[in-house]
Parts: sequence; structure tokens; C-alpha cells
Amino acid sequence: MSKSAFIKSSIAKKYWMALTGLFLCLFLVGHLIGNLQLIVKTGEEGRRAFNEYAYFMTHNPAIMVLSYLTYFSILFHAIDGIALFIQNKKARPVSYAYTKPSANSSFASRYMALLGTLVLVFIATHMSNFWWKMKVSDDVPMHSYYSTSSQDTMYLTHKGEQISTKQIREFGEIKGTQLIFKADKYTVSMERQIDDILEQNPDISENDLALIEEQKQKLKQYKDEIIAEGYKDLHTVVMEFFSKNNKSNTGVPLGLLGMLFYVFSMAVLGFHLWHGFASAFQSLGLNHPKYSPMISMIGKGFAVVIPLLFAIIPALIYLNS
Ligand code: HEM
Repeated sequence: MSKSAFIKSSIAKKYWMALTGLFLCLFLVGHLIGNLQLIVKTGEEGRRAFNEYAYFMTHNPAIMVLSYLTYFSILFHAIDGIALFIQNKKARPVSYAYTKPSANSSFASRYMALLGTLVLVFIATHMSNFWWKMKVSDDVPMHSYYSTSSQDTMYLTHKGEQISTKQIREFGEIKGTQLIFKADKYTVSMERQIDDILEQNPDISENDLALIEEQKQKLKQYKDEIIAEGYKDLHTVVMEFFSKNNKSNTGVPLGLLGMLFYVFSMAVLGFHLWHGFASAFQSLGLNHPKYSPMISMIGKGFAVVIPLLFAIIPALIYLNS
């Protein structure tokens, strides 16, 4: 590759890395605000708010477009970053043998590729922890809670109705997050009630008997149908994941290890953002003698505050479990 072609392709790569990187920073802010609900709201209110939020995030069409843009940006940012790293290495294979890097570049800028790879490992692990369960596998229980007034466990539906476990046991079944009306269960229950009436009223009139027979015939017309959709209880999945009680069969403290892995990964993310934020503005050519120092300051603030708030979430969940 000629020197000018090399520079051009490097600039293009940096430009796209900057754009996708800044978009991912916006994603981080949104994701953080959503996740803070895990520690800000407590009890049933918190669980309900988080599960309703998770449902909205996975079903709203505009958010779904943003989600695909996020997946694309993560992949593009990572692949572009690796390509840039290899390109730079090929161009200056012995660079560090002659210079003292610590004298003219920060830790974060020298280790961006390594930090980025660690963030990618975190994202892959993180998505298999929660995202996979929420979107792909049916491994998440349905949101239910105990109602003291009904003295029963209730399922909350998307329409805001509450369906008791007793009703489900008698007339339906649960499939994933669907509450299904089962015609056979309903028919058996109704026929039992009719038999009870007949037993208690042996001298029932011909007219009433005809009416009962009519009702019995109508029962045959009922069919199984989905009566409501419930929420996935992602809140409980997250809480149990970081819980002190989350231990393997052999006693390995999975909750503690999970929490430490998340906290460590947030430190890595912080270092990656420390250099990445301000350098994205440079790559986009947005350099200004007046504003660049301010952008650099904002970037450093962002790199500290956002990962710190993210790290507090698993740490608090673990400590409060
Ligand atoms: C440490 C605190 C964090 C918690 C408790 C957390 C929790 C979650 C949960 C529960 C989901 C599944 C949501 C769903 O599919 O509806 C999710 C998705 C995701 N998380 Fe996190 N997260 C954390 C930090 C991060 C960080 C720091 C990143 C990026 C570096 C990240 C990247 C993602 C991505 C890309 C998705 C998929 C989003 C989508 O499908 O639109 N998360 N997270």
C-alpha cells in the first residue's frame, strides 16, 4: 500500500471507529439509566418497573431499531479497531524498541486494543448472562407476586390485569409468558358444577333441565385460546445472578465472582473511555483550540462517572442480597 493510501485508509477507519464509539457512548447512558432502576426502586415496585421497562425495550419498534444499530456498532467498532491495530503494527513493527512509550503517550492510549478486546469479552459474556435469556431462551420465569388481599400468587399481564394462580390451575396453563385458556379444563369444571346443582335440586323443572342441557352443549364450542401475555421476570434473574446465594453445586461463589468480574470490567471500560472519548472528536476533525480542552474534560468525567455507576449496580445487589 502506498503511503497516501495507507493514511487514507487509516483515517477512514478512525472516522468510523469514532462515529460508532460515540454512538455506543449514547447507548451506555441509556442502558445505565434503565439499569439504575435495579437499585433505585426496591421491593415489588422495583421488580415491576424493571420488568415493564425490559418488556418495552424488547418490543418497542423504535428501540428495536436502536438495538440492531447497537449490535452493528459493537461489531463494526471491534473489527475496525482490530484492523487498525494490525495495520499500525505492520507499518511500525519495531516502534516501541526505539521509543519510550510511557514518556509520550498515556497508558490508555497505548493499550486501547487490549482494553477494547477485554470490553468485547465482557459484552459477549454479559449478553450470554442476560440478553440471551431474555431474547432467545425461555429460561426466564414469568413475573408473579403474592397478593395479600387475594391470598394467592398473581400474574401481571400486559393489559394491567391480574390473574391468580388458582384461576390458571382451574381453567388454564402457562406457556412461556402466555396465559392460555384451556377449554377441556373449563368444561370439566363447569360440568362438575352442573352435576352439583342437579344433585342438590332433584325435583328440578323440565324447563330448567332444558336450559342446563343447552349450557352443556355450548361448553363444547369453547376452544383453547391465549387470554393474556405476562412479563418475563428479568429482574429476578439479575438479582439472583449477583446474589451471595448464587453458588455452584460444589460451593463456588458464582454471585461473588460475577460481581467481581463486572466491577473489574467496568474499570477496563473506564480506561478505554478515558482515551476513546476525546480521541473520537479528534478523529472526526472536531478540533478547536477553545473547545477541545473542555471536550477532553467531559470525556474524562464520562469515563469515570458512567463505569462507576455501572459498577455500583452489581456491587450493591451483591451486598444487599
Ligand atoms: C454492570 C451493570 C449492567 C447490568 C446490570 C446490565 C444488565 C443488562 C440486562 C438485564 C440486559 C438484557 C436486557 C434486555 O435484553 O432487554 C442487558 C443487555 C445489554 N447490555 Fe447490559 N448491563 C450492564 C452493563 C453493561 C455495559 C457496561 C455494557 C457495554 C459495555 C452493556 C451492554 C449491553 C448490551 C449491548 C445489551 C443488549 C442490548 C439490546 O439488546 O439492545 N451492559 N444488560
